[in-house]
Amino acid sequence: MQMQASKEFYAELKILTNVHHLNLVRLLGYCAEGSLFLVYEFIENGNLSQHLQGSEKEPLPWSTRMQIAFDSATGLEYIHEHTVPVYIHRDIKSANILIDKNFRAKVADFGLTKLIDFKASYHTRNTPWLDSMRHCDTAVVRTEGITEATGLVALFEDVLSQPDPREDLEKLVDPRLGDNYPFDSVLKMAELGRACTKEDPQVRPSMREIVVALTTLSSETKEWNVSGFHGNTALLNLMSGK
Ligand SMILES: Nc1ncnc2c1ncn2[C@@H]1O[C@H](COP(=O)(O)OP(=O)(O)OP(=O)(O)O)[C@@H](O)[C@H]1O
Ligand SMILES: [Mg+2]
Repeated sequence: MQMQASKEFYAELKILTNVHHLNLVRLLGYCAEGSLFLVYEFIENGNLSQHLQGSEKEPLPWSTRMQIAFDSATGLEYIHEHTVPVYIHRDIKSANILIDKNFRAKVADFGLTKLIDFKASYHTRNTPWLDSMRHCDTAVVRTEGITEATGLVALFEDVLSQPDPREDLEKLVDPRLGDNYPFDSVLKMAELGRACTKEDPQVRPSMREIVVALTTLSSETKEWNVSGFHGNTALLNLMSGK
């Protein structure tokens, strides 16, 4: 970063180096010599955008995608509820979700918005918008003058408001998955995404509620993953507790 950092800025950086969680990329330290350098732990396996959109990586199985959603939500829940002070990310996107060698996800760049705000001497604490944003991070970006909703949110909204969304929802699923996904799980995940992107932040679920929803969804989906074990009935029964 090319900048003149203030005392408050360094104080905030110091706090950030003390935030430790399995699902957050750790800020190890910083170095201010000419420019300012932020030093993070290295996450080996690229970012989520590369896994979803790039052609170099193998397609992620549905169960891994669910784990990544769960990990990301858990990391966000931690900064929304358990750190002092709490943080809102405000730049959640697939390039800021990093994947480690075990395909577990870590949220990168949390806390940076606050640092940028410090730079502009703009204080965000105890402001009303912070409370509403904290509800579910920055899920929707509104552009002045554009009233029509566009993009993925609108696409899913259209499909999910149909009485039977199956056929059209299947068309939206990543073709690289083939038929290797449980439709019910995709439907529930899409509905959760829809709830998170509601226009009114107050009606969106909190990150804690999202973590609970994803835990339930992943325990239901485990049954499906187990059924992929080549018809080994004994193993299947053992793993599903029968
Ligand atoms: N700790 C890290 N370990 C491994 N790769 C990283 C790490 N941090 C960032 N990267 C990689 O570098 C890329 C660029 O990161 P950077 O944060 O500068 O830009 P961005 O994520 O595309 O956009 P933004 O500035 O909005 O966060 C990331 O998308 C990721 O692929
Ligand atoms: Mg980033």
